[in-house]
Amino acid sequence: MARAARAAILAWFDQQGREIAFRGRHDPYGVLVAEVMAQQTQVSRADEAWRAWMRRFPTVEALAAAPTSDVIRQWAGLGYNRRAVSLQRAARLIVERHGGRVPDGLAELQALPGVGPYTARAVAATAFGRPVGAVDTNVRRVLGRVAGGGVDALSDRELQALADRVVPPDRAGAWTHALMDLGATVCRPRAPRCAECPVLAWCRFARRGASVGEATGSAARRASTARAFAGGPFPSTSRWLRGRIVERMREAGGWLAFDEPIGSHAVPAVHAAIHALAKDGLAEVDATGPGIRARLPAA
Ligand code: ADE
Repeated sequence: MARAARAAILAWFDQQGREIAFRGRHDPYGVLVAEVMAQQTQVSRADEAWRAWMRRFPTVEALAAAPTSDVIRQWAGLGYNRRAVSLQRAARLIVERHGGRVPDGLAELQALPGVGPYTARAVAATAFGRPVGAVDTNVRRVLGRVAGGGVDALSDRELQALADRVVPPDRAGAWTHALMDLGATVCRPRAPRCAECPVLAWCRFARRGASVGEATGSAARRASTARAFAGGPFPSTSRWLRGRIVERMREAGGWLAFDEPIGSHAVPAVHAAIHALAKDGLAEVDATGPGIRARLPAA
């Protein structure tokens, strides 16, 4: 991507970037929390949850020392509860192995629970200013369209290489936010607002005539994204069931008996889900009695 195109994106971001609390100047721990929250949750919701979280667990030490049940409770409303457990495990590792400082290297970041290539890069770029490209669905679309002419024009490997190559080394953090904003507000999946785009002049997708259909290969991805954001999974799924069980444990102060069906899920399915939750660190199980009791993990 031409230098002038990159400058245009940064200038656009400086004027029109979204105001998001978790983007302010924060310690790397705050950035890590924000990125894990934003992985599978809408930015507006994640941002609100992030403020509350930072009041409750202001430091990595506070998160590491908290009862896991508190951590899972604080995650309420964000979905995919396993992320809460992973985040606390990451905090404990950061305290034990890294002296309480979030590491700045990609390998060390990716070694943390719940931190994949995207999150590691987003943290490295926005918390530490490292010139690495974080590729989420928004960035994939922006770069794929501008440089390749369409969302699916470039392979994952090509996209990652391009994303790394185009980061302005002196503004890696702003650049990361900028590409995400451009994808969310202008370079939208459907009905992109090309007339408002700062890189219109450089864009292969626009040159082709943005309306000529993009490859349909991403239909499945779009559908699964739509499902993920449309208020949670279907009641027939085990993910839905797990969510309801965690919700009930959150509301209960302590041990809770599970001896009735939940929705269309019969008791054996409920018990299986509880055991699966326990394996993931989201529940403690007491099976010594006739039925099964469960609670959020104390430690
Ligand atoms: N900037 C960096 N990470 C972001 C995210 N996950 N959502 C929006 N803007 C961001």
